[in-house]
Amino acid sequence: MKFKRHTVTAALPYANGPVHIGHLAGCYLPADIYVRYLRSKGEDVKFICGSDEHGVPITIKAKKEGITPQQVVDKYHKIMGDAFKEFGVSFDVYSRTSAKVHHETASEFFKTLYDKGVFTEEITEQYFDEKANQFLADRYIVGTCPKCGNENAYGDQCEKCGSTLNATDLINPKSALSGEKPILKKTKNWFLPLDKMQPQIEAFIDSHKEWKSNVFGQCKSWLNSGLQPRAMTRDLDWGVKVPVDGAEGKVLYVWFDAPIGYISATKDLTPDWEKYWKDKETKLVHFIGKDNIVFHCIIFPAMLMAEGSYILPENVPANEFLNLEGDKISTSRNWAVWLHEYLLEFKDKQDVLRYTLCANAPETKDNDFTWKDFQAKNNNELVAILGNFVNRTLVLTHKYYNGKVPVAAEYTKGDIILLEEISKFPAKIAASIEQYRFREALAELMNLARLGNKYLADNEPWILIKTDEKRVQTIMNLSLQISANLTILMEPFLPFTSKKLGAMLNLNEGLKWIDATRTDLLLPGHQINTASLLFDKVEDEIIVAQVQKLADSKKMNELNSTSEIEVPKSDITFDDFSKMDIRVGTIIEAERVPKTDKLLKLLIDTGIDKRTVVSGIAGSYKPEEIIGQQVSILVNLAPRKIKGIESQGMILMAENNKGELSFVAPTKADMNNGGSVK
Ligand code: 2FM
Ligand code: ZN
Repeated sequence: MKFKRHTVTAALPYANGPVHIGHLAGCYLPADIYVRYLRSKGEDVKFICGSDEHGVPITIKAKKEGITPQQVVDKYHKIMGDAFKEFGVSFDVYSRTSAKVHHETASEFFKTLYDKGVFTEEITEQYFDEKANQFLADRYIVGTCPKCGNENAYGDQCEKCGSTLNATDLINPKSALSGEKPILKKTKNWFLPLDKMQPQIEAFIDSHKEWKSNVFGQCKSWLNSGLQPRAMTRDLDWGVKVPVDGAEGKVLYVWFDAPIGYISATKDLTPDWEKYWKDKETKLVHFIGKDNIVFHCIIFPAMLMAEGSYILPENVPANEFLNLEGDKISTSRNWAVWLHEYLLEFKDKQDVLRYTLCANAPETKDNDFTWKDFQAKNNNELVAILGNFVNRTLVLTHKYYNGKVPVAAEYTKGDIILLEEISKFPAKIAASIEQYRFREALAELMNLARLGNKYLADNEPWILIKTDEKRVQTIMNLSLQISANLTILMEPFLPFTSKKLGAMLNLNEGLKWIDATRTDLLLPGHQINTASLLFDKVEDEIIVAQVQKLADSKKMNELNSTSEIEVPKSDITFDDFSKMDIRVGTIIEAERVPKTDKLLKLLIDTGIDKRTVVSGIAGSYKPEEIIGQQVSILVNLAPRKIKGIESQGMILMAENNKGELSFVAPTKADMNNGGSVK
């Protein structure tokens, strides 16, 4: 079926952290290539995205940083939106789910389903943290995945095996807020009866056998295990309020409201939004990562079916995951290449990253990004093939013809074959893009540059110029035409380079995909502009620095590894605490305790007196380097004998997980001895 228009969505990223290469490779880059291609074909397309600002990850982040959820999303909405823009991800709208239009749209959608009697109202037992006095939805609860044994699975999903879970499925559940074992408490929620909707959903999935096998397969496996009713509301205070009576203190499930975010973002973009969502001649395509498959292929379509007036997705080309240097990308472990950091270190090289991520896209299986491969792709492909061809063409045109396009005199048999070959590329690349095979499409694009390089190498115009000037005119004319066609065909993949090359060739703006079938885009006499290199080499030291940066981050992570943090001790009262008399003191003498490795005998001026303390710090400090050091000393600890020496107090030390010690001391110089520490 030929569609009149396209609605293309890219998963709304959670506004709880910056964007990294995994995000870009997983869905934003393929979506952008697809949309840019459609625009180049002259199609009516809207490219929709925005920040997913509800859900537990946001509230957890806010708690951790001691700020409000709104402050978290305001911060990251801007950072993410800027990063996408910088990398040329050309959304028509980048909206957000905390926007009024979204709350209204999601609320209305829920109300419609509620009024139609779609939901079942159920009282179920949900986990509750007595200490935090709060229900524990989704990521507020962690435990062992019943499917793969991962001990850090969340209440809604296991990130290791990708299973979608209910909190009550977890083995050994623990509250992510307090670490406490939660209790089960009764609460009312509204459920989408996916079990009853199974036949419709199954028919929908079965009508899309053309979907990528990973997507179709995951849907079938869900359906084969039998769909279960799923709660569409949560006992939380951050999100879209449930718009019905008796739902105080409840919000919409984030996976109910987030996909509606695509609709509200379209409303945000145009008053004409309905035709992009309700007209059967609109092709709806969702670009996502593989962890979002069930929500986009089963739950959201079920919601749309239940509502009744919306179209369903035609395709959901989900990618697998991108790893980094052999390890899973992880925000919490800082194992990532952040887009905003990349830009600082590789200024104006957005296309190099776009190229590497597309050439290596995790389309059919998880893939790995390595800095070595990034360097190789830049140096051996972008510089050596594409950049080299264009540069030779432009430099020779300036040298032989002062930058004016020469007339093609007479075509040889080889030229005619070349012309035919050139005109086939738009269709070949288009076919791959339309089947969501972006790696293949990019490889074809590079084949056109290779063809150009081979043409130059076979014909050697730089030698021929001495004997056959006429022939050289044709060779250069054809090379320039290939460069012009490349400008059009590379635009979806390498938009910045396309712009640069278009300016150097002085090409008309607004050329379309179809124009790349032509071989007369540059007319004889057309003046081209000054040439500069499209790409430059990435040297070894740049790569070494990036690899080192990752190694440092791994080291830091090991150092800070939370697994080695001791469990908190049980609570004490303020009275217990105030019994301790801690003072500022200064070490005035220090010596090793004979026949021990760890102990130093210190004489400390406490402001009250001068007293001896034996302390186990010899592994971290030499006696001579600590004379004059201020310390915090517990002065009312009962004296005790250590190696025959009476120790009259204890100095406070901080310890890292390598066992290294540091004094806990005043940071201002004028803290007098005897001052209290409280
Ligand atoms: O996985 C995620 O990052 C989700 N925030 C994606 C939501 S996509 C859509 F439904 F909004
Ligand atoms: Zn699992």
